[in-house]
Amino acid sequence: MADQTYEWTVTHSENKLPAAEREAILDAPVFGTKFTDHQVVVTWEQGKGWHSASVIPYGPIMMDPAAAVLHYGQEIFEGIKAYRHQDGSIWTFRPEMNARRLQKSAHRLALPELPVEIFVESLRQLIDVDGDWVPQPVNEKTLYIRPFEIAAETFLGVRPAQRAEYRVIASPVGPYFTGGVKPVKIWIALDSARAGRHGTGEAKTGGNYAASLLAQSEGYDNGCSQVLFLDAESATYIEELGGMNLFFVYRDGHVVTPALDGTILHGITRDSVIQLIKDRGISVEERKVTLDEVRAGVNSGDIVEMFACGTAAVITPVGQLKSRLETIGAEDPEPGELTVSLREELTGIQYGTVEDRHGWLVKLS
Ligand code: PLP
Ligand code: COI
Repeated sequence: MADQTYEWTVTHSENKLPAAEREAILDAPVFGTKFTDHQVVVTWEQGKGWHSASVIPYGPIMMDPAAAVLHYGQEIFEGIKAYRHQDGSIWTFRPEMNARRLQKSAHRLALPELPVEIFVESLRQLIDVDGDWVPQPVNEKTLYIRPFEIAAETFLGVRPAQRAEYRVIASPVGPYFTGGVKPVKIWIALDSARAGRHGTGEAKTGGNYAASLLAQSEGYDNGCSQVLFLDAESATYIEELGGMNLFFVYRDGHVVTPALDGTILHGITRDSVIQLIKDRGISVEERKVTLDEVRAGVNSGDIVEMFACGTAAVITPVGQLKSRLETIGAEDPEPGELTVSLREELTGIQYGTVEDRHGWLVKLS
């Protein structure tokens, strides 16, 4: 079964974007708006397993209107980047972690688990044909890769699909937030929750993001660029943002981040940042954090920095936390010292200018 997947079929696009047009996109990429010339498709069928691994031209998916994913949201995804180094080589960051998280998400959504080797190979295959789409290492430009898996069976019965597709697409990106490293404002969701106990909060599945959009729009209307979710049960504890994990830096130097309690996504940037902080001899507490603690800490000056992190957003300073009841923090603070230096270290590792002492980078080309 697995052997078949190593026979990758590659069909080159006959409509590749002319180089000049591609370069114009790479000059000023806008997150998630333009895509490379190819995509990966690997199919899974009940009784047959994963098969027909292929690279095909980028284009729409032909899908029956009764495909299960369109009705019951049986869908999972990943986010990972390809970084060009100064010598032209192309690298990615901790892909086995994304592969294993995709497997965990698959398990939760009753989808088939893609073997880790196929996940990593799928990135190589795409970069093999679309490597020219990885931007030069300036202005935080990268190629954002979006692997995803969908229930592709044509069937309206509510049960795990017997046919699934794993696909990979990629989009050149610049900074996720248009303001650069300027601290972002965060909207506290008081009227909606993202994930409940034993729900799908730990899985990277479309439904979690659909559930975040109402609060996210409310946030936009109030000048905020991300939304913060509290625990669904008591609305007391800070969990995470719509697409990022959150950290708090205390005046005495230690750092706190919400513990992974079953409802929070196990961020790979979060894990890496914890390691980089520990490497500096600074203590990191993974524990429950209440909104009350953060409010009191920011007001008293005990909390001196807040930052959010994720693949798309890297490490982004957080300025204010706002809700319809209150505003916590100053209007336009300077980005924190630790935030900025962690960001430089992490991006330095990713772009190959800082030593990769944990062996996080994997060469794609
Ligand atoms: N939390 C959520 C809800 C996310 O969507 C993401 C982004 O992937 C993260 C956290 C950060 O995860 P990672 O660092 O693996 O990108
Ligand atoms: C990522 O950081 O890769 C994410 O998936 C966050 C968001 C773009 C959904």
